[in-house]
Amino acid sequence: MNQPTLQVTGLQTHFFTGNGAVKSVDGVTFSLLEGETLGIVGESGSGKSVTSLSIIGLIESPGRIVGGEVRFLGRDLLQLKESEMRKIRGKEISMIFQEPLTALNPVFRIGHQIQEVLMNHNQLHKADAERQTLELLKKVKISRPESAYDSYPHELSGGMRQRAMIAMAIACKPKILIADEPTTALDVSIQAQILKIMKEIIRDEGSSILLITHDLGVIAEMADRVAVMYAGQIVEQCDVYTLFKAPKHPYTQGLLKSTPKLHNNEETLDSIEGSVPHPLNMPVGCRFHPRCSYATDKCNQNEPQLRELESGHQVRCLLYENGFQ
Ligand SMILES: Nc1ncnc2c1ncn2[C@@H]1O[C@H](COP(=O)(O)OP(=O)(O)OP(=O)(O)O)[C@@H](O)[C@H]1O
Ligand SMILES: [Mg+2]
Repeated sequence: MNQPTLQVTGLQTHFFTGNGAVKSVDGVTFSLLEGETLGIVGESGSGKSVTSLSIIGLIESPGRIVGGEVRFLGRDLLQLKESEMRKIRGKEISMIFQEPLTALNPVFRIGHQIQEVLMNHNQLHKADAERQTLELLKKVKISRPESAYDSYPHELSGGMRQRAMIAMAIACKPKILIADEPTTALDVSIQAQILKIMKEIIRDEGSSILLITHDLGVIAEMADRVAVMYAGQIVEQCDVYTLFKAPKHPYTQGLLKSTPKLHNNEETLDSIEGSVPHPLNMPVGCRFHPRCSYATDKCNQNEPQLRELESGHQVRCLLYENGFQ
């Protein structure tokens, strides 16, 4: 650990729609260290997926990255040509999605697709690629790997398809694996199996993982550090222990309260009132102030900056800025 494998600085990704520029990601800065799992949490629409697609170079028109840097082992990926990016995507940085059919091609057999990745990126011969593909299917604990090898994606169950996509994503031993809600669509027991496989990948390959999820239980189980996103920005970043023990941002505190808890045998769910503002209609000042019970009249005038409160703990909130306490 320690060396940043990925350093994202001031990332801005906007969608130029008929109604104006949608600033989905608006100045996101974080680093992903070697071998660590960084969780990204935040409500729907906060910009988590757009952040990850920006990193891997998959933003499509009318979206465009309008600012910032994405440094991977020192190179700014935003400066690379698509042909150079294609050599990195799927080999050095790969992605798993909530819906495996986003990544798997419906018209090719699973084995063929994984084998192609190995042959393209690692210049393996067919026989070697075939052998490695079977090993990968075993590694992700697909039942009957030989038969899965010859199956089309639609012939597998959702959980098996998810495993096949993970096998394809880790085929070239990527330095970074981006997982966008990898277990959200799965039922609880299959979720747990997929998380276990991801842990084994971290242990065996030392990959860094950017793990996007709504699920704080998944964060608690998997992440070393966490970045909390709200309305296109990071509002808090710290290690996972501090996140649960001493969250500072009122939004993070609200998110933690909104996870279901068993209390007197009743499940209670306190959610944060209101909803994430639409990027076309961002509140002035702090973007969270209309929903924040601590907001003062300063909060609708001044935009807070992400500041380091303690070593490794950053917060974007005027409550913690000098002169506002
Ligand atoms: N193609 C697009 N055109 C216009 N706006 C877009 C487009 N894609 C995303 N957005 C907007 O960008 C914002 C962030 O979207 P994003 O998909 O990153 O959210 P998210 O945090 O991943 O949410 P979820 O938890 O629901 O997956 C949203 O307001 C969304 O409407
Ligand atoms: Mg998303």
